[in-house]
Amino acid sequence: MKSLNGLQSSAFIQLMNWIFRPLDFLEDCARQYGDTFKLNLMGLPPFTVVSDPQGVEEILSVDAKKFDVGRTNNLAAGLLGDNSLVLLDGAPHRRQRKLMMPPFHGEKVKSYAETICQITNKVADRWQEQSTFIAQKAMQDITLETILHVVFGLSEGDRYQQIKPPLIELLDLTGSPLKASVIFLPLLQQDLGEWSPWGKVVRRKAKIYELLQAEIDERRANPESAGNDVLSLLMSARDERGEGLSNIELKDQMMTLLVAGHETTATALSWALYWIHKLPEVKQKLLAELDSLDPDADPLTISRLPYLTAVCNETLRIYPVAFIAFLRFAKSKIEVMGHQFEAEEMLAPTIYLTHHREDLYPEAKKFKPERFLERQYSTYEFLPFGGGNRRCIGYALALLEMKLVLATVLSNWNLSLTSARPILPKRRGATIAPDNGVPLTLNGRRSRTKRDLVMASDF
Ligand code: HEM
Repeated sequence: MKSLNGLQSSAFIQLMNWIFRPLDFLEDCARQYGDTFKLNLMGLPPFTVVSDPQGVEEILSVDAKKFDVGRTNNLAAGLLGDNSLVLLDGAPHRRQRKLMMPPFHGEKVKSYAETICQITNKVADRWQEQSTFIAQKAMQDITLETILHVVFGLSEGDRYQQIKPPLIELLDLTGSPLKASVIFLPLLQQDLGEWSPWGKVVRRKAKIYELLQAEIDERRANPESAGNDVLSLLMSARDERGEGLSNIELKDQMMTLLVAGHETTATALSWALYWIHKLPEVKQKLLAELDSLDPDADPLTISRLPYLTAVCNETLRIYPVAFIAFLRFAKSKIEVMGHQFEAEEMLAPTIYLTHHREDLYPEAKKFKPERFLERQYSTYEFLPFGGGNRRCIGYALALLEMKLVLATVLSNWNLSLTSARPILPKRRGATIAPDNGVPLTLNGRRSRTKRDLVMASDF
């Protein structure tokens, strides 16, 4: 049996590193302790980081009965509610997940394609020529409108306009590493009035729940308005005793989808826009591929383009928005990579470290979409959406959105980075985002050129 390395530094120092410089910290640890090591963050139970694909597979491919996940997410309860899918385990998790999946599944997701392109054009039409805008904010507008469409069947309208400000404010409340501390430190999750960090979260959340309740009440009063959106499906679901979900269960799931489903994709898109405009050869190849398409190509043809797909994958590899998968809590003794873990120990597939292994991704610090054209990666080598029974339910939507938004923006608009300064990753809540949101300058509309068409044959 192999022995496991634990860090020598104090739990307080480990916590500070985890909050303020998580990626560098993980890399420092991996250099010193190898693929598998134990972290002990002050105030939180210790957990073991696993990044070797074999170890990741041993964790993610086992029967869900071996690990609990929901209870390791309990710190998210204050934000997402006790009934959130991410906090459930066992049969309740399976049941809720099954109910929530259909709108996020293959065929259904494809039906959102036109809407995503329309929303993108609408948001882009508001950009002013020769002026600067922040990619993260613009992408949030697009992904928020998309998720509201999928979850509620809402597009525009009063409720959309009302829900947007408190939701964005709520996410901004964890927008810096310091502010993000409220989601790691139970001690800080106390409502000490309107101006306290947690007090602000509680008040924004109450406002959103009020609006969600108004939407639920309206649907109950007009059952004929039920559509194919997630809220309609959840409202019509019945358990074996014929009982439906309570109002609070419905609101917690809606909140989970709104939070999990828009900021993540907006951040991934901002990173993609950064890399594309940072690296002229990437932009050139992408434009050539897009321009080689028939102008009336349907969105699904666009979503299958190989170089566009490779750019999206490389974006999610180099700075995976979620740099670590949910923690897995061993329900009984288990062996992973030759290490024995006792019941109640926690393991964490660490996406960032797996994605930066030189044996899998040579020159891992370089943005090289071509690696995804030259090699097929397994689901334990490339896992931006986690895996197993907790794999992100929105992954197909997120990927479709990334591809269509990028294709629409790049085909129609000529953008450039406002500054040549490199943009670095920074913690934003539980995610890793570009430190300044990626300022872009709009240089004008773009039209296709013959030269671009010729270049499409370059790859
Ligand atoms: C680029 C965008 C996104 C990324 C990188 C991402 C990443 C992830 C990751 C890493 C997990 C944890 C999986 C695990 O531990 O095995 C997760 C879970 C989840 N994601 Fe996403 N996600 C994205 C977009 C979305 C979208 C668009 C939605 C919803 C519409 C969504 C909803 C969820 C939910 C509900 C879970 C919890 C699943 C469960 O507990 O069963 N995510 N996501």
